[in-house]
Amino acid sequence: MLTIGVLASGRGSNLQSIIDSKQVGELPVEIAVVISDKSQARALSRARHHGIKAVHIDPGACTDREFEDKMLEYLHEYGVELVVMAGFMRLLSPYFIGNYRHRIMNIHPSLLPAFKGLNAQKQALDYGVRYSGCTVHFADEGMDSGPIILQAVVPVKQTDTEESLSQRILKEEHRLYPRAIKLFAGGKLEVEQGKVFIKD
Ligand code: GRF
Repeated sequence: MLTIGVLASGRGSNLQSIIDSKQVGELPVEIAVVISDKSQARALSRARHHGIKAVHIDPGACTDREFEDKMLEYLHEYGVELVVMAGFMRLLSPYFIGNYRHRIMNIHPSLLPAFKGLNAQKQALDYGVRYSGCTVHFADEGMDSGPIILQAVVPVKQTDTEESLSQRILKEEHRLYPRAIKLFAGGKLEVEQGKVFIKD
């Protein structure tokens, strides 16, 4: 079974969707460890609630390199094969990415490459697009960049607020992330020249 580690900074609803998919037998993975840079992250309490090892690493107490080394220590200790970023609010360095090349996934609440960075849903609303959505991709050295694995599209309504659009997108995020992880677990993802090919 594929061993995954989750990096999260906040609410942890995507982590929850992964835990739930596993529990109903749809996702053949072991969630070995959840790591957060925020001691109060709800993701950590969700992990503990499900008996998953939950670790806080304080970025204020060390250099960026030491922070990443501590994360890598845990990931190696727990035999993590795939790193899943679920609302992790820090940019990973080329050093970290190099340790897990094409084995780090991220989810972003827009149709990348549009609306990278913070407040992607507000950016979409402000721009006036008719459709937005979410993207699961392999992380590379850039922010919200790297080969795209799956995307889901949602309509943007004229009456939408940031909150209502975020909710509609989040619902799709919770379906999309487990699907992408399942494809990886099944050995179905191949990266060639910066693009992901999904094998039958
Ligand atoms: C999600 O919208 C995700 O796309 C973005 O951060 C948010 C995390 O939410 N990267 P949660 O912590 O999983 O609830």
